[in-house]
Amino acid sequence: MAKKLFVTGASGFLGWHVFRDAPADWQLIGCWHGNAAGLFPMAEAFQLDLTDRDAVWRALKATKPDAVLHTAAASNPAHCEANKEETRKLNVEATVQLAEFCAELRSKLVFTSSSQVYDGTSPPCKEVPDPNPKNDYGQQKLEAEKLVADLLPEAAIIRVAVMYGMAGTGTNNFLQQWLDIWRQEREVTAFYDEIRSFLSGTAASDGIFKVLEKGAEGIFNLGGGSAISRYEFAEMASVAFGLPQAKIIRKSQQEVALSTFRPADLTMDLTKIKELGFVPQTPWEGLKLLAGKKA
Ligand SMILES: NC(=O)c1ccc[n+]([C@@H]2O[C@H](COP(=O)([O-])OP(=O)(O)OC[C@H]3O[C@@H](n4cnc5c(N)ncnc54)[C@H](OP(=O)(O)O)[C@@H]3O)[C@@H](O)[C@H]2O)c1
Repeated sequence: MAKKLFVTGASGFLGWHVFRDAPADWQLIGCWHGNAAGLFPMAEAFQLDLTDRDAVWRALKATKPDAVLHTAAASNPAHCEANKEETRKLNVEATVQLAEFCAELRSKLVFTSSSQVYDGTSPPCKEVPDPNPKNDYGQQKLEAEKLVADLLPEAAIIRVAVMYGMAGTGTNNFLQQWLDIWRQEREVTAFYDEIRSFLSGTAASDGIFKVLEKGAEGIFNLGGGSAISRYEFAEMASVAFGLPQAKIIRKSQQEVALSTFRPADLTMDLTKIKELGFVPQTPWEGLKLLAGKKA
C-alpha cells in the first residue's frame, strides 16, 4: 500500500518539485495558502493556513499521514527581517505545532530548514546543532529546529542550500528571474564573494525522498556538489541556456547596500546525506539537465 505523505508548501518552489518527482509508492496530499497557481498540475492539495491551529489539527487527523513534509515557510530573508513577528508565527510557531501533532499521530516529520542557520565564516558547514545564524530568517529556522528536535527526536531536519530551477508559472526562482532579465537584454548583478552549494529543485526532492525512504533522523545538510560563487553560477547558467552574451555585473557583497545579512561562504559538508545514497550533482550537471541537454 502506498505511504501517505502530507506536504505543506505544496504551492512553493520545492513543493512543486516534490509533487512532480515523488516516487510512485508515495501518495501525496498537499496544502497551499494563497497561491494555487504554484501547484504542480493535478496535485491533490487543499487550502490551509498553517497558523490556524484547529484547522491544521483537523486536516492531519482526517489525513492520518505516515509522514509530514513541512516545506511551507516565509522563505525570503529580507521579508523576515521586515516582518519579524508575522514570519515567526509561520516559521517557528506553526512548525512547532506540526511537530506536536506529528508526535500525537505518530507521523514522521521532515522539516526543511536552511543553510542560512550557518554564519558562513568557517566552511565547509557541518551539521552542528548550535550554528550561529546572523539574520532573522536563519534565527527563526534554528529556533524551530531546536524546538522540533526536543519535541520529536525522531524527526528529520534538512538544512537546504539555495535552490535553483523552473517550477511552472506560479513560482519565481532567482534563475527564472535571471533568464527573463537576460532575454530582455538587461543585466544581472552577481557576487563573486558569495559561495553556495547550489541545489536544483529536482535534486532537493531526490534528497528529501532519500531521507524519507531511510526513515533517517537528525540533522542533514542537503546541497549540490562543487560549491561556487553566485557570479560563477551566473556565467555557467548563461552558457548552459545558450545565452553567452548575457550581461553579468561582477560585484563584491561590500559594493552593494544589503538589506539583510548574507553569509559569505555556505559550502556544505554533504557526508551525512551521501551516506543515505544521495549523489550530489555539480551546478554544471544540474544546469545542463535543466536546459534540456545531457550533462
Ligand atoms: N528556495 C530556496 O532557495 C531555499 C533555500 C534554503 C531553504 N529553503 C527552505 O525550503 C523550504 C521550501 O522553500 P521554497 O523555496 O519552496 O518556498 P516558497 O517557494 O517561498 O514557498 C513557500 C510555501 O509556503 C506556503 N505558505 C506560506 N504561508 C503559509 C501559511 N500561512 N499557511 C500555509 N502555507 C503557507 C506558501 O503557500 P502559498 O504560496 O500558496 O501562499 C508556499 O507554498 C522552506 O522551508 C524554505 O525555508 C529554501
